[in-house]
Amino acid sequence: MAEKYQNFINGKWCDALNGDTFENRNPANWDGDLVGTFPKSGAEEVDIAVKAARKGFEKWRKVPAPERGDLMMKATLLMEERKEELSQIETREMGKVIAETRGDVQEGIDTGYFGAGESRRMHGKTVPSEMPNKFAMITRNPIGVCGLISPWNFPMAIPTWKSFPALMCGNSIVMKPASLTPATATKLIEIFLDAGFPPEVVNIVHGPGSSVGNAIVTHSDVDAISFTGSSEVGKIINSRAGAELKRVSLELGGKNAQIVMPDADLDLAVDGALWGAFGTTGQRCTATSRLILHEDIHDAVVEKLIARAKTLKIGDGLLPETDMGPVVDEFAMNGILKYIRIGQEEDGATLATGGHQLTDGEHAKGWFLDPTIFTDVKAGMRIEQEEIFGPVLSVIKIKSFEEAIEVLNGTEYGLSSSIYTNDVNQSFAAIRDIEAGITYVNGPTIGAECHLLFGGVKTTGNGHREGGWGAYEFFSEPKTVYVDYSGKLQRAQIDNR
Ligand code: UN1
Repeated sequence: MAEKYQNFINGKWCDALNGDTFENRNPANWDGDLVGTFPKSGAEEVDIAVKAARKGFEKWRKVPAPERGDLMMKATLLMEERKEELSQIETREMGKVIAETRGDVQEGIDTGYFGAGESRRMHGKTVPSEMPNKFAMITRNPIGVCGLISPWNFPMAIPTWKSFPALMCGNSIVMKPASLTPATATKLIEIFLDAGFPPEVVNIVHGPGSSVGNAIVTHSDVDAISFTGSSEVGKIINSRAGAELKRVSLELGGKNAQIVMPDADLDLAVDGALWGAFGTTGQRCTATSRLILHEDIHDAVVEKLIARAKTLKIGDGLLPETDMGPVVDEFAMNGILKYIRIGQEEDGATLATGGHQLTDGEHAKGWFLDPTIFTDVKAGMRIEQEEIFGPVLSVIKIKSFEEAIEVLNGTEYGLSSSIYTNDVNQSFAAIRDIEAGITYVNGPTIGAECHLLFGGVKTTGNGHREGGWGAYEFFSEPKTVYVDYSGKLQRAQIDNR
């Protein structure tokens, strides 16, 4: 049944000022399941939200961090209580299988527990002063109003990665979730309010990126922007927000690869490749989109992989027997099909399995695609270079460890990576030489844990990290403090030399 959702701005649930709405539909049952209607807002609503957030910030920044942490703990316990309901909504709006949306909500819960704990640390530093009777320290202050723009592929985890540390550091927030998955993020705001967060501190504005997102990015009273999405949009955001000297954290595209060396446990490597490539229907920034196989084991791995991919059950993510859900909408479907054509025609790779939109029976109701594997892919082909964001895996054959690393590093991206080998020397060389923010040894490219740093190099980001303490660094401003208790003027660099 369709629910009517609203913005939460300035302490009130409200519609768009002009009353416009947009729909959120289930990608497994597009015409048959309207998840909700949402306000189609614009720059004016953002302005009201930012003003409220500024007002809220002035009180919130003075609340002791551990007290903020108590609210975080309450919110996290509410998420635990509502985990199943949140997971069901998330599968309906995003499509991924229910076991995975439970994981997505769990990632949010874990981020909450971490945040509640972190509120009692917020480490600064004390260091000795050059001068006698002088104390020096660095504390952490909040930044102000943070604009949080989140994607549709992790509708709960990513909004929590951004909002929890932002709030624990004492900032207020204006959230703009992806218009394809706005319901889960709205439930998160409900949870903040039920937990007792001050209403003006937590704002959510729904609407298109081009109006709402852009208004947040360019608003002169927004101090920091955290964005997860494509590298293309990230560059635009960085230039617009950078022109205003805002702090900007970007988590962008990936073209993640898994290397398999001859000495690896091949069954384990196949398990990893299947999960990495087809989990979340390949719609993760960290998804495995390239499999780099040593020639000695290439044929054996490809054979096992194709056989396993063919057994995956594609369907509605709410059904317990489903292994892989739909892609998120028709636009995503067309983009993936375009790359499947490019792989066959322009690149001349071999389509080894999959490559079709499924339109039979129940599949006709949604946006389903079979798991797709290309073999004979060469480094430099478009399907090997460009982010597809769907269940499409490119297999590349290599002759040596050095060549494997060169191919892995040969894209503009650098988010996640993996190597399967039982050679400890080779695994450490890979850890040193792979250009990526995340490297897994004997594990797939997906599966980041919330208390470790998350992010990438090259066009995957701009040097900041989400997750763990990294997010707390981003969302706080260091303040260097000197306390001179000598009772006299002490001239640094002069009187003590
Ligand atoms: C993303 O794809 O944007 O490591 C986030 C993973 C998840 C998070 C992915 N924990 O795949």
